[in-house]
Amino acid sequence: MDGKETIKIGVLVSGGGSNLQAIIDAVNVGALDVEIACVGADNPGAGGLARAEKAGIPTFVTDYSALFASRKDGAPLPGDFSLEEVAAKQSLLKDADPETLKAFFEKRALAEADLLARLAPYKIDLLVLAGFMRVFTPYFIDGLNAGSTLPRIMNIHPALLPAFPGTDGYGDTFRYGCKVGGCTVHFVDYGEDSGPIIGQHSFAILPEDDLDAVKKKGLAEEWRLFPECIQLYAEGRLNVVEREGTRVVNVLPGE
Ligand code: GAR
Repeated sequence: MDGKETIKIGVLVSGGGSNLQAIIDAVNVGALDVEIACVGADNPGAGGLARAEKAGIPTFVTDYSALFASRKDGAPLPGDFSLEEVAAKQSLLKDADPETLKAFFEKRALAEADLLARLAPYKIDLLVLAGFMRVFTPYFIDGLNAGSTLPRIMNIHPALLPAFPGTDGYGDTFRYGCKVGGCTVHFVDYGEDSGPIIGQHSFAILPEDDLDAVKKKGLAEEWRLFPECIQLYAEGRLNVVEREGTRVVNVLPGE
């Protein structure tokens, strides 16, 4: 972008990476004041990695499955990880017994420590989750957000939150019989898909639409919404405020 300051972002993917592609394309046409510093994946088969390589962006893999297995084999926990602290802050697991809770957070700590270490050299301003199918614990979120008043992790979700959080937003929307579907970009907090909403796009679900048609319409909206929200962040136009006990995003007017 001519003469404008750019922010550095990292992008995480788990799958094909069509949202990553939309972000790469938006950068290439000068629509984003952003440098994509790195692209990471939670599995070596993520198709998004090839898209990044083609665009000349450095990539890395934090292999969640392998790291989870290594914890079972007794791999040591990161020195700065405290189960008590994470358990007190989290709202991912409710009513879980102590053993389940311990296993859940300890194995994620290994993966999240690896992610934090791989991201650190890039000194990113913002981490963008573009189809990253892992939840983050307070260990990672606090590590990434350290030193910033604004949250630093942004996620895209395939439903109109707070409806249909979880792993199958379009499927859940379709099976419920909704007449409107949509996608949401939000900051990541300690819950699942529960953080402050930055932007949403909607689309009509027509009687003749099957699930594939819904996904197609939804993705087309995602590819427009995500770059819009990232650009708002880059322009410093997002503010998180407290409104009646809930943290919400205020979008400040542009110049
Ligand atoms: C997108 O629909 C995104 O909203 C969804 O995964 C898909 C990734 O597509 N993300 C989630 O469900 C996150 N919980 P892509 O790899 O083609 O960008």
